[in-house]
Amino acid sequence: MADPHHNEFPPGSLEARDLEHLLHPATNFKLHHEKGPTVHARAEGVYMWDNRGKQYIEGMAGLWCTALGYGEPELARVAAEQMQTLSYSQLFSGKTNEPSILLAEKLKQMMPFEAGRVFFGLSGSDANDTQVKLMWYYHNAIGKPEKKKIISRKRGYHGVTVASGSLTGLPAFHKHFDLPIAGILHTDCPSYYREGLSGETETDFVDRIVKNLADLIQAEGPETIAAFIAEPIMGAGGVVVPPAGYFQKVQAELKKHDILFIDDEVICGFGRTGTLFGAQSMGIEPTTMSVAKAVSSAYLPLSAVIIPEFIYEPFIEVTADVGTFGHGFTYSGHPVCAAVALRNLELMEERDLYAHAARVGERFQERLRSFADHPLVGEVRGAGLIGAIELVADKATKAPFAPSAGVGMHCQAQCENQGLIIRNLGDTIAFCPPLIITDKQVDEVFSKFEVALNETLEWIR
Ligand SMILES: Cc1ncc(COP(=O)(O)O)c(C=O)c1O
Repeated sequence: MADPHHNEFPPGSLEARDLEHLLHPATNFKLHHEKGPTVHARAEGVYMWDNRGKQYIEGMAGLWCTALGYGEPELARVAAEQMQTLSYSQLFSGKTNEPSILLAEKLKQMMPFEAGRVFFGLSGSDANDTQVKLMWYYHNAIGKPEKKKIISRKRGYHGVTVASGSLTGLPAFHKHFDLPIAGILHTDCPSYYREGLSGETETDFVDRIVKNLADLIQAEGPETIAAFIAEPIMGAGGVVVPPAGYFQKVQAELKKHDILFIDDEVICGFGRTGTLFGAQSMGIEPTTMSVAKAVSSAYLPLSAVIIPEFIYEPFIEVTADVGTFGHGFTYSGHPVCAAVALRNLELMEERDLYAHAARVGERFQERLRSFADHPLVGEVRGAGLIGAIELVADKATKAPFAPSAGVGMHCQAQCENQGLIIRNLGDTIAFCPPLIITDKQVDEVFSKFEVALNETLEWIR
């Protein structure tokens, strides 16, 4: 069928064919039909080129994922070798393969908690779905079938599958999808800038939202709540960095009621925030962890759920009763994905990338914060190599622009004109470059951004 909405692109062009055939994730379809797609053609290091030969510097690491940058020949070699040796094997029914074993061992060694078992998936969403199911399975196994609810947070992002999409606390991911499902609760977002009351100190703000959490737990019944899930720094919700002491107070509350802590490190893991995991930057003591994205630098899809041995142990008898552990994916422990992820993690260490990211992160934060005085900028926030700039209509009152004004989208388009890839989350501009970025390239990102931001200001005026 010819695309009924668009006919500007030459027939047969990739743009025209995209418009005819694809159902795009996370896209405004009407706008897409008006504007058409950007076709990515090739990428190397921190640069990407579209099909017209235009060069972009990558300020978003794809979708927060290409930590090692693009086009690493060593990972292509490992993938090709593994495909020739054992292109597929499974972990069902006790089968196994070397790359999965080695990767599980490696991940356990890296964990900032006493890790017991590693379950493999392919995406952040399936990892968090697995987290929910493991929490249910565990509490059934230990004879607490009533302890099932999961507390997530408004503006948190944990994926889009039925359970993980329910954990996500963003309206666009619920509306018309009949989500969230029952048993998933959302507590306050720890954004002092947006949620702090007038005259409230940061400490008072934290105390108030932790009190709200305590009240929620009491209202629901602590015996009904299994776990709390959080990203150390919220990503897709607008790069929200919680105030100092927030997680410590949250965890003190959770511990009173044996509520477990699911640490969603899908974005923050592997050096993003200036430490190995976001848990270390933000003072979290995880019970379990989800990782994806940078674990394989997105060369191939891979996610993992890491749990302590005490959660695994009661499963042994249950699976013997039932006959199997009734959860797992065809591609859980895919040997090619596992081999590539393992080599990716080794390369990050061999190249001292975590220390590099922490060091360049200082320059990045300095450049980011230099926009704080700009008339369009309400708040600048971030840690390490992740950050955001929130654009507002009124700096003094923090009044946002009307969503229909499309200010963030305009700024994003201007960045693209400048040859800079960033992502607008509403009117918040997110930055999350590959960890291999250099000081000089950080300067390039923000020089281009400055032009785009000033152009956006002119456009508004
Ligand atoms: C913190 C977090 N968790 C989970 C997900 C979902 O990951 P995926 O898109 O691989 O399903 C994302 C994706 O951006 C994420 O940022």
